[in-house]
Amino acid sequence: MILVTGGAGFIGANFVLDWLKSCSEPVVNLDKLTYAGNLHNLDSLADDPRHLFVHGDIGDSALVAHLLQEHQPRAIINFAAESHVDRSIHGPEDFIRTNVNGTFALLGAAREYWEQLGTDDKAGFRFLHVSTDEVYGSLGPQDAPFTEHTPYAPNSPYSASKAASDHLVRAWHHTYGLPTLTTNCSNNYGPYQFPEKLVPLMIHNALSGKPLPVYGDGLNIRDWLYVSDHCSAIRTVLNAGRPGEVYNIGGWNEKTNMEVVHTLCDILDQARPQTGSHRALIHHVRDRAGHDRRYAIDAGKIERELGWKPEETFETGIRKTVAWYLDNQPWVEAVTSGEYRHWLERHYGART
Ligand code: NAD
Ligand code: DAU
Repeated sequence: MILVTGGAGFIGANFVLDWLKSCSEPVVNLDKLTYAGNLHNLDSLADDPRHLFVHGDIGDSALVAHLLQEHQPRAIINFAAESHVDRSIHGPEDFIRTNVNGTFALLGAAREYWEQLGTDDKAGFRFLHVSTDEVYGSLGPQDAPFTEHTPYAPNSPYSASKAASDHLVRAWHHTYGLPTLTTNCSNNYGPYQFPEKLVPLMIHNALSGKPLPVYGDGLNIRDWLYVSDHCSAIRTVLNAGRPGEVYNIGGWNEKTNMEVVHTLCDILDQARPQTGSHRALIHHVRDRAGHDRRYAIDAGKIERELGWKPEETFETGIRKTVAWYLDNQPWVEAVTSGEYRHWLERHYGART
């Protein structure tokens, strides 16, 4: 079996669902259920004995040690993190606690477990750390995309905390020999993404007739990858990646934020016709502090060495995503109550 952390969040839940669709190997899913963790993402597994959910913190070394001894996983896949850049600007503490100290504690427990395994299990064990392209910093318009050799230059409290966690993972391999794998991926979109992030926020606001808040001039560039392609890349790295190595994952889909928002408005104009375009709701607001201008990923290494390529183009993936949100409005309504409303007031209230 495998131990997944953060498996009730956006990418983790998609990973667990895809994993149990594509193989029979059980999953222990450790998640703290922060505002971003949602057990409804896993409703379809309610009666599935291959999925064991454990409510807890990756920073709880005793709990993690107990889970490792009890279930003897062959791998740990670490998705657990605070993941939202804007929240890291308002309050970095949780990001240091989970992304840095939590990863440190998880590595310690993994090492202790791994060191007492028998020879074959020890050789086969993997610690896969899921990270981000944001650790590489910001690119100029003509710069080549990030490779695995691009020096780290994190600019936000979020990316700095992820960079720190990546360095710890690297050190645990080089110093202790722990068979680690690190993946650095670009922006994901797809089902079950919490509507604080660009794509689901814009869909949600457009459907509610609310302003679409574009930061600054909207010309910041991100590379976009459909979430199931990220999940398949992680499975590929887990199966065939070389211990100690880093793999960049991306969709070869560089888009400005304006292009993304225009695409969403145009799809919604077809799916939910109204008088005038949803584009009329676009509203430029004060820019994000320290806003990185451009990210771009060179995913050549994982393609060449492991044969992975994304299946979705941006055009197919974004249509699937809009369709999912339209078909799952009760899910959106459930997650946009309570704490989320408080966030909207705190974050957007003073920007317009
Ligand atoms: P998310 O915020 O949607 O989910 C994070 C999950 O981790 C939640 O279920 C939360 O409850 C859980 N969690 C938080 N702190 C925890 C702790 N201390 N112990 C146990 N569980 C905890 O995040 P996401 O978008 O699914 O991202 C998952 C991972 O992928 C993160 O490490 C993130 O840095 C990385 N990543 C995300 C993207 C993206 O576009 N979303 C891209 C590249 C990499
Ligand atoms: O690049 C990978 C990263 O992508 C992940 O590591 C992070 O966990 C994930 O949150 C994401 O970070 P971003 O900051 O790129 O994603 P976000 O959806 O917050 O913003 C995408 C772009 O859209 C960014 O340039 C800011 C802009 N934006 C965002 C929001 C929420 C807006 O213009 N308006 C908004 O309301």
